[in-house]
Amino acid sequence: MTRPRVHETVADLREGIAAARAAGHRIALVPTMGALHEGHLSLVRAAREQAEHIIVSIFVNPAQFAPTEDFDAYPRDNEADIRMLEELSVEGVFLPSVAEMYPQGFATGMTVGGPSAGLESITRPHFFNGMAIVVAKLLLAALPDIAMFGEKDYQQLAVVRRFVADLGIPTTIVGAPTVREADGLAMSSRNRYLDADARRTAALVPQVLRQAIARIEAGEQVATVLADGTAQLTQGGFAVDYLELCDAATLAPVGPESTSARLLVAAKLGKTRLIDNMAVTRPASGWA
Ligand code: PAJ
Repeated sequence: MTRPRVHETVADLREGIAAARAAGHRIALVPTMGALHEGHLSLVRAAREQAEHIIVSIFVNPAQFAPTEDFDAYPRDNEADIRMLEELSVEGVFLPSVAEMYPQGFATGMTVGGPSAGLESITRPHFFNGMAIVVAKLLLAALPDIAMFGEKDYQQLAVVRRFVADLGIPTTIVGAPTVREADGLAMSSRNRYLDADARRTAALVPQVLRQAIARIEAGEQVATVLADGTAQLTQGGFAVDYLELCDAATLAPVGPESTSARLLVAAKLGKTRLIDNMAVTRPASGWA
């Protein structure tokens, strides 16, 4: 096993990538905020199927956190992360400082539309613009052939696909399925915030999604099912931000023209905010 090369600057990252390109290697980028878990590692494994040179970026991006959110508390453990990536024979880790990504005088932002509307944007209106600027910068720094994103953050994946197409960034965006714990909870760096009690309760989120999906696919009325799911989560101790059925491609509310849909949820358990989503197949009778 060789330790991945750690690039702290864009210039050094580009040098490493240029050498890999000269050797004829395809480049994959896996953007992360670190505190890596099996969900992140699944993206690396999927990248390996399509690329000989994998760069994992680890950067807790201040632009996507509101002042009231957990930027300072966000778990950071670069050494442990690099060791995990070494086991997967990742070639490079991009570990920039905040000053490297946002140098003195930085004055540019992005405004993303389309699938960014609603859902996460209701409670986190700053999030997608802040996420988009850093992902755009990472893609422009690495100019990879492919970049991997998890369906765990389904709306994020849709927003990235949208602005990458709109800006003509020459990278193929690849989505990968959500990796879950044994009880169904979607893996997340923020699960580290949950104490043992809350961790047990958290499994209600995927349970509610699965039950709701079974009922919707059996032709039950969507509004009733969503109201029941929200009530179940609230009774379980969650403060529900949303539980919504959306068109899988546009993330607009599901309509007669939607051939496939996604059920998306965000709910807070104490201070920890959990998000999850799953695919929903249109009932033969259409959406009720
Ligand atoms: P982060 O939350 O660290 O997630 C990095 C990538 O891992 C994202 O594409 C996310 O969807 C994926 N991921 C997280 N949990 C997963 C799981 N259980 N199964 C599959 N994939 C999972 O998302 C971000 O960071 C940031 O917003 C970022 C894109 C890096 C921009 O700062």
